[in-house]
Amino acid sequence: MTIFSLTEAELRQRRSLKWRTYDADVLPLWVAEMDVAMVPQVRAELDAALDRGDTGYPWGSEYADAYRASARTRWGLELDPAQVRRGGDVMNSVLCVLEAVTDPGDGIVITAPVYPPFWQVTSGYRRRTVPVGLTADGRLDLEALEQAFTDDRVTAFLLCSPHNPTGTVHTAEELAAVAALCRGHNVALVVDEIHAWLVDPGTTFVPTLAVPGAEDAVVVVSAGKAWNLAGFKAGLYLAGEGAGGVLNRLPPLANQSTGHLGAIAHAAALRHGQQWVDQVCVEVAANKELLADLLHALVPSACYQPAPGTYLAWVDCTRLPLSDPVRHFLEVGRVAFSPGRNFSPAHRQWVRINLATSPAIITRAVERMAASLRNRPAD
Ligand SMILES: Cc1ncc(COP(=O)(O)O)c(C=O)c1O
Repeated sequence: MTIFSLTEAELRQRRSLKWRTYDADVLPLWVAEMDVAMVPQVRAELDAALDRGDTGYPWGSEYADAYRASARTRWGLELDPAQVRRGGDVMNSVLCVLEAVTDPGDGIVITAPVYPPFWQVTSGYRRRTVPVGLTADGRLDLEALEQAFTDDRVTAFLLCSPHNPTGTVHTAEELAAVAALCRGHNVALVVDEIHAWLVDPGTTFVPTLAVPGAEDAVVVVSAGKAWNLAGFKAGLYLAGEGAGGVLNRLPPLANQSTGHLGAIAHAAALRHGQQWVDQVCVEVAANKELLADLLHALVPSACYQPAPGTYLAWVDCTRLPLSDPVRHFLEVGRVAFSPGRNFSPAHRQWVRINLATSPAIITRAVERMAASLRNRPAD
């Protein structure tokens, strides 16, 4: 079974953001949608729900239970049913948690470069964004974090685990150190683990709530990234054993925005899609190697160091003779990537490439990058 086998012609039928934003001659490798067909069992459960006309409100804990079973089998994480609640999509759930644990005007630390909505969910909601850089090799900078936490107007740390866009998978030691720092400085630890299942074979994802000392953390997850279900919005809040009070302080509508079909789809993915996502990870790891080889051969000035988390590649184009790499690749190469500046103002020369697609499309994309550099108009 090859999962990334859909052709460009098939994908161009889609009406989603990834495939509709740009002109039809642009190859889109930007927003984090996967070029996959739906997991058959998810489809079967959705079909059955539609056959029943079962399009009302969600009921029960099927999705939460499916997550708990997946976390137990995959990572040995035991969660009590009371620690898991349904939410809307992941970013709206993160917002609800941040509203519960911070006050307007508070500082919230994020580790830049990071997923652009992390900037929006902080400064867009009357909080102050406090960006802290990662180390040169993309790891959490514990000293810089501690420094930021000493400001007593900083009351929360929003962590991305695994990290989008660098693909860094945080270790148990790093997470324990972060949890200890947060506890020591009275900073609420809020973790987005939407990419949890997406790590290369041989790499172990460590859930924050499995780390001793992280009992005060609140985590938000969904099956949305790993099984490509962003169209079925449904997230979950996970409270550490010491953070149960946060779930009770969430804004009144925090648990109301899960779609019934979303909960059905995400639960089915978690219950029946474990082997499927393992195969995704195998193919993504091969795609990372393919990208590294192609860049080395065709665009050698681009620097790319594959990292084990996510299906996203974070590529440094600083050494290319381009003032705006993403604009150049779009306008001249007709290939769309995500601009580094959206992840941090310091990363204007970087691009994020979505590798959740076929080797053929990745090859075509890098060929277009190379051709665009040969045909480069004066910048
Ligand atoms: C780290 C991270 N969090 C959240 C999301 C979006 O999740 P949702 O659509 O459930 O808000 C993404 C999507 O790419 C992501 O990378």
